[in-house]
Amino acid sequence: MTQLNELQFQKFRALIFDNCGIQPKKEMIEGKLDKLLRKNNLSSYDEFYQLLSTGANSVLWSEFIDEITVHMSSFFRENNHFEFMRSQLRLIFEKNPRILKNNEIKLWSAGCSTGEEPYTLAMVLKEWLPQDMTIKILATDISKRTMASAQRGIYPATIKKEMDPYYLMQYFNRSEEDYEIKPELKALITFRLFNLMDSFPFQDTFDIIFCRNVMIYFNAEIQQKLVQKFRAVLTMGGLLFIGHSESLLNKQNGFQYMQPTVYLNQGK
Ligand SMILES: C[S@@+](CC[C@H](N)C(=O)[O-])C[C@H]1O[C@@H](n2cnc3c(N)ncnc32)[C@H](O)[C@@H]1O
Repeated sequence: MTQLNELQFQKFRALIFDNCGIQPKKEMIEGKLDKLLRKNNLSSYDEFYQLLSTGANSVLWSEFIDEITVHMSSFFRENNHFEFMRSQLRLIFEKNPRILKNNEIKLWSAGCSTGEEPYTLAMVLKEWLPQDMTIKILATDISKRTMASAQRGIYPATIKKEMDPYYLMQYFNRSEEDYEIKPELKALITFRLFNLMDSFPFQDTFDIIFCRNVMIYFNAEIQQKLVQKFRAVLTMGGLLFIGHSESLLNKQNGFQYMQPTVYLNQGK
């Protein structure tokens, strides 16, 4: 493996932090950078850094982002969030009356990775909401490769372990080796490449935002800013779900704690 010295590591780390808000450890990125160096026939880390920092090679940049981000996900991950939605549906409608008024619900899966989270949301909402209610889910991620995989919606047979067979039967087409999300479920989701460090371009607000296992990679200051950006695009009475190893401690301004990792926008 090509050695990455401390100075080179600090330069890559600053580049990653400035662009994605992530501060990876040396051990975490060393192997990944080495892999990209070889794959792209680059002669040194300095040449690699030069190409990235000048924006001279957008394909390399995109591969770099794909490599340094962590994409682990699964269907029905942290299932008690979905259970909360099912058991508290009445409360969700009460706190946010526009859902029933418009007969429409708008969600954002921010940091959706390979799609398991937004597809799980789409499946459970199809099951639990009134049949004629419009479901609109925006699913975003910074990684192009991950986003492409989410849009394809094709998963290996191992996903059988992640959900009740009913959902597999109802929402997937089975081929020899894979399961593919049915087009009618895909149609509920809009996938977009989006960096959460950028300002939010939305005209309208969301009823529910899922941002789970993403903020864990950001420092406290970035988390704080991001939570307030989420609040600005969440309707009053709307809900924010974060990952189980994350917390809004000290950054809860304007949010009411509902249960661990579930917060309601109080609109103040
Ligand atoms: C561990 S996955 C979480 C997936 C899903 N939310 C879940 O809980 O299963 C984290 C995702 O956040 C994305 N991510 C990291 N930094 C980001 C940023 N600055 N903007 C948008 N997405 C980001 C990564 O690309 C990755 O797909």
